[in-house]
Amino acid sequence: MPYETLLVDQADGVGLVTLNRPEALNAINTALIDELNQVLDAFERDANIGCVLITGSAKAFAAGADVKEMAELCFPGTYLDDFLGRWDRVAERRKPIIAAVAGHALGGGFELALMCDFIIAADNARFGLPEVKLGVIPGSGGTQRLTRLAGRAKAMEMILTGRSMDAAEAERCGVVARVVPLPELLDAAMQSARQIAAQSRTAVLLLKECVNRVDEGSLGEGLRFERRLFQAVFATPDQKEGMGAFIEKRKPVFGKQ
Ligand code: CAA
Repeated sequence: MPYETLLVDQADGVGLVTLNRPEALNAINTALIDELNQVLDAFERDANIGCVLITGSAKAFAAGADVKEMAELCFPGTYLDDFLGRWDRVAERRKPIIAAVAGHALGGGFELALMCDFIIAADNARFGLPEVKLGVIPGSGGTQRLTRLAGRAKAMEMILTGRSMDAAEAERCGVVARVVPLPELLDAAMQSARQIAAQSRTAVLLLKECVNRVDEGSLGEGLRFERRLFQAVFATPDQKEGMGAFIEKRKPVFGKQ
């Protein structure tokens, strides 16, 4: 099915979504977030998909929420319509999502990347939350997620000044998993996505739940949660297959459920 704002493809268990509003540096408007949610819904339901990859163009992952669409909005309309509320669904997905970021990832574009499970960045990527320069504040989790990843000092400085950081700084402060040369970005991200898609589906989803638990409670509670899921994984055929294959010195073949 053709989309107005996205290109969608799938191969080797990976669902690939390319943000495609080149005329606006992939600024995220309502149509784009709605289409993205539709595609992610379909990937969640599709047993052939084990990992999702979201990317943009070489010039921009996404240069923010669409300022032209937002400029005339007023309160309480934003509140009554729960403006940006539908963005949260990206972070609520159970299957892993990788962001492959080149060029600008600003404002809502950076926030979209931060909602993904990890970011692989091209060496030309730039990350920032410049909302303060527009007289507003980030609205899709930027103040919370950047602070958790990069720490309070870096997040405060970036958010209060609106300055952006390059890929090397983003890697140093833990915002991106790794940086690769721009021409290698898609291959490198696809390779990670394929690796994830080939693992036990159950183990991958349990792992994502465990790591996400870090943000929700105390260390003790998180450790107990992880231990219970670890014990439960012994009820899955994938555990028998994975450990059996290791002992028999062969490659495991995992199911898709
Ligand atoms: N919304 C709407 N249109 C945008 C846009 C955005 N966020 N970012 C870029 N565009 C449009 C430009 O208006 C321009 O369109 P026209 O050709 O019709 O004028 C086109 O994309 C190309 O942009 P530029 O000519 O500005 O390109 P550049 O290379 O000179 O500059 C840039 C690139 C530095 C990223 C600059 O476009 C820019 O500063 N963009 C806005 C970044 C921003 O403020 N993002 C935060 C938005 S607020 C937000 O995201 C709220 C939230 O928390 C969810």
